[in-house]
Amino acid sequence: MADEKLLKQEIMDKVKEIYKLRKAKETFVKGKTRIGYSGRCFDEKEMLAAVDAVLDFWLTLGPKGIEFCESFKNYLGNKHCLVTNSGSSSNLLAISALCSDSIANPIRPWDEVITTAVTFPTTLNPIIQNKLTPVFVDIEEDTYNIDASLIEAAVSSKTRAIVFAHTLGNPAEMDKIMAIAKKYKLYVVEDTCDALDSIYEGKYCGSFGDFSTFSFYAAHHITMGEGGALCTNSSELYRAALSYRDWGRACYCQTGEKNPNGACGHRFDFKFKGLPEGYDHKYVYSNIGYNLKPLDIQCAIGLEQLKKLPDFTKARKKNFNLLYDFMKKYEDKFILPRSLPKADASWFAFPLTIREDAGFTKKALVTFLESKNIETRMLFAGNILNQPGYKNINHRISGQLTNSDQVLHKTFFLGVYPGITQEKLEYITDCIDEFFK
Ligand SMILES: Cc1ncc(COP(=O)(O)O)c(C=O)c1O
Repeated sequence: MADEKLLKQEIMDKVKEIYKLRKAKETFVKGKTRIGYSGRCFDEKEMLAAVDAVLDFWLTLGPKGIEFCESFKNYLGNKHCLVTNSGSSSNLLAISALCSDSIANPIRPWDEVITTAVTFPTTLNPIIQNKLTPVFVDIEEDTYNIDASLIEAAVSSKTRAIVFAHTLGNPAEMDKIMAIAKKYKLYVVEDTCDALDSIYEGKYCGSFGDFSTFSFYAAHHITMGEGGALCTNSSELYRAALSYRDWGRACYCQTGEKNPNGACGHRFDFKFKGLPEGYDHKYVYSNIGYNLKPLDIQCAIGLEQLKKLPDFTKARKKNFNLLYDFMKKYEDKFILPRSLPKADASWFAFPLTIREDAGFTKKALVTFLESKNIETRMLFAGNILNQPGYKNINHRISGQLTNSDQVLHKTFFLGVYPGITQEKLEYITDCIDEFFK
């Protein structure tokens, strides 16, 4: 009879062979091979981890998820981490938890949240979905981040939180933002979906706020295919977010716990008003929740990716710097991206804003680059208030959104991810030269 161990070894060897075969076939032909703005960077290790997790067939969130959370929170220096099925879900959980009656100081309906109009939709959406009022302030035209000097003027008696992304991996002005939050007792949510491994004043982005959120979609610094995480240093907020992630239940023991009495040993020991004495804590609901868990297979892939993060970051920084040095000669045509002096960015991408008098349109340049098989992207929604789905949202604008409008009309980005080799980068810069000839 076949031995399971031997069979598994055979499968693993074949997986390695498949990876090697595919890798050997990879070529780059100028103008023919598409240069993605981003993509999955992996080798046989991620494939082996995924196959191993599939063979194990635990499937649902379990041991790999626990291991991933431990590694991820330790890497960032946060106390708690929750894995989720996306960055969008992480944002939804963060805002929902801050509105939960299960925390001591919840945000109430129609309270105000200061944020930016240049945003990824699902950074803003949970504010709207939780019936809060977004208050938009402008961004800086070259860092693309919330202009911290405008936040204080936007604060009202109803303001409860500041929610923003470190745009395209560029750290926002965390010292100023945290000082304002402290002065007015505001919650801070850092959307760090594009900024894993970026640093501000020696601390990781995603380790300052009450919540930080991460995405492991294929385009991001590390990937699980789809996936996300949520970090916090507050046990109260962690429990509220966990409850929302796991159907709204009150019990905060990990899913898949084998002890029949729960990990805490008190599964049947509680008494809640309106429920029978000792009602199973697994079926007590303290929030109106969701199910936003990832699979354990995703977490197995994530664990391998996390080991590679320092190398990924080096490659992103190298590509960004090479592109920056090249683009300097076109500074009369573009506003080049800027990082703050205290920031050390692991850029998600290379944003460019076409100057008013540059003599060409964004459409002309991006269609030219796309025709050369070089992928470009818009800076997400631009000023999201111009998007069809957002025409009728309840909101307030503080000051002018001049730079946000400029992004809508004039900004796009190129890739810097580790899959862009020196050869590909040279082709990109040659094509940009060709456009200007
Ligand atoms: C800043 C930002 N926030 C949130 C998200 C959503 O992440 P996900 O695609 O994992 O839902 C993204 C996605 O790219 C993003 O760039």
